[in-house]
Formats: sequence, structure tokens, C-alpha cells
Amino acid sequence: MKNIWISEAFKGVVPNDYQGKVGWRSPSNIALVKYWGKKGKQLPQNPSISFTLSECCTETFIQYEKADGFGFKFFFEGQENPAFGAKIEKFLHDNQVYFPFINQLHLTVESRNTFPHSSGIASSASSMSAFVMCLLDIENQIVSQQFDFQKASYFSRLASGSAARSVYPKMALWGSTEAYEGSSDEYAVPLENDIHPVFKTYRDSILIVSGETKSVSSRAGHSLMEGNPYALARYAQANENIKNLLVALKSGDLETFMNITESEALQLHALMMCSNPSFILMKPNTLRIIEEVRRFRNETHIPLCFTLDAGPNAHLLYPESEAEKVDDFIKNTLLAYCDEGRWIADHVGDGPKKLL
Ligand code: PMV
Repeated sequence: MKNIWISEAFKGVVPNDYQGKVGWRSPSNIALVKYWGKKGKQLPQNPSISFTLSECCTETFIQYEKADGFGFKFFFEGQENPAFGAKIEKFLHDNQVYFPFINQLHLTVESRNTFPHSSGIASSASSMSAFVMCLLDIENQIVSQQFDFQKASYFSRLASGSAARSVYPKMALWGSTEAYEGSSDEYAVPLENDIHPVFKTYRDSILIVSGETKSVSSRAGHSLMEGNPYALARYAQANENIKNLLVALKSGDLETFMNITESEALQLHALMMCSNPSFILMKPNTLRIIEEVRRFRNETHIPLCFTLDAGPNAHLLYPESEAEKVDDFIKNTLLAYCDEGRWIADHVGDGPKKLL
């Protein structure tokens, strides 16, 4: 593919007095149609759609100054963190052709999450998109360019697939589908203008069933799709779900939205169980929550549904207008199944925010 983003304007030498600080806050996202299985250079086997969250974010600051060669230090929540720093350094090394100025800069990165430690919330989507947005800001200041969110999505994807979807407000679609013009495997596109108002303020209450680190990383999970006997059927289903979900999102059809969302969550975990080696990330309390949510919905007719990420925690999705009743249900019934009664009240958000 032709690289449309190598900066034409960069003349090769960073000015001697070049220094400054940039900062971005970027949110996590929760997929409704799941990305599970990749191909080529971090491309998805099927398209995915997500809600952009609001409370679960990473805030990243990069201090940069002209240097004789590349220099890099990474601090997470005040402590130097070589493991996470190594991941970012690898990303920079693999993509230095796109960011040639990096070899003349010393970078000090400081990062923190706005959600609690060990909550089991995936942080690579928020952290990688926050880092990439800072990096693009540094470039923009050298070559005087406007901020390009599609470019931010492209590089966030290279850093961590689902991060591609975090750069837009409300909702995003990543992956090529005939059902949406302009969609691409290379970057996500914003869906804000194609969704019913009810989804723009949707709630996501995240019930922390376990804050332990996952026994199988999502990287390992993706690669196990290669030998999965249901892989092709899964990719066909995901495409069908994307098509139908796009229609439901536009019209505000909550029934279809809930059916697809719950089916996608259970398919993701079924695929894990059918991998070789097989693995199970749900916990007994995940299933108890699912049962309770379905019972509550049958009894009250409140449009509450669940989804799951690659882990045991349950995301409860519902319209803002039902928040009071659902919050009572969470407090009175569901917190008993949470690790030390922990949960995060999140909602669909406005996307990344420039901090500096
Ligand atoms: O972005 P990754 O490689 O961590 O994969 C994310 C996979 C899921 O969270 C399970 C699904 C998704 O689409 O976000």
C-alpha cells in the first residue's frame, strides 16, 4: 500500500532549539462486534464496532528535546516502567520510516490511567492511542501540519489493533465492510453521524469480577484463531452482524442491538473455548451476572444487555434514561458478584482530548 502519511514537509534536520511538551487524554473503548483474529501487519480478519468510553482513559505527556540520537525514558504513574517502555520503543523502531525525526529527539514519556490499577480493564487501546496522538503532535509542530485523526487511527492500529477505534467520539468502525462506505482495514472511521441519539449517551457499567491479569493475552488469543475450526464461520457471522448492527444503530432498534451485542460477547468466549489449546476467561460470577441481567430484562422489560471483553468482567449497556433503575439493580443484586464490590460507572464519551 502506498504510504500516504510519510511527512513530505520534513526536511531531515530537527532545529537545534527544538523542545517542548505535548499531552493527550485518550479513552478506552468497548467493542460490540468483536475483533478476534488478525492477518498481515495488524489487520483485522473482520470489521468491528465499538463505543468510545469516557471515564476509562490514559493521560500521556511527552517532553521532547533535540538530541544527537534517539533517547527514551518511560514513566507509568510516576515510576520508570521499562516493560511498557520497551513495547513503545519497539513500535517506534518498527515505524521509524514514518517518524524519521525521532532519531534526533530525546523523549521522556509520563503516562497514567484514570481507572484503578488491576481492574482488568484493557489499557492498550487508551495508552497506545494517547501515545500516538502525542507523537503526531510533536511531528505537527516540526512540519506545521493540522492534526489528522485518521492518521492517528492508522498508527494506533499498528501499536494495538483495538486502539484504532479510540480516537473518535461516541462510536467507531474499524475494518472494511461493504455495508459502510469509506471503511478500511487500515484505520477506523467515526460513526457519530450515523447513529441514533439514544446511543450517544449510552451507559456502560463495568462490573469488576476479577482484577487479576488475564491468563492468556489477547495477542495469543488472536493467533489461536489461525487453527480454530470455526474461524471462517466466525468471520462470516461478524460481517453479517456488522451489517445488521449498522442498521439498528441508525434506527435506534434496541432489540436488535441487544441481540447482536450479547451474541458477539458469547461468541468471543466460545471461540476461546474452541481454540487449541482451549482457554476460559469467564469466571463463575460472570455467568451469574449474565443470568441475572437476562432475568431482570425479562421481568422489567428494561433494555439492559451485557457484553464481555477478553476477560471475566461484565460491561452492562443501557440507555441513560434507565440509569436510575439499573444502578439500583447493580447495587442491590450484582455487586455481590464483583471483586470487593468494585464497579466503574462509565458512558459513551467525546473521544480524546488534547491536554497541552
Ligand atoms: O487490540 P487487541 O489486540 O488487544 O484486541 C482486542 C480484542 C478484543 O478486545 C477482545 C475485541 C475488540 O474488538 O476490542
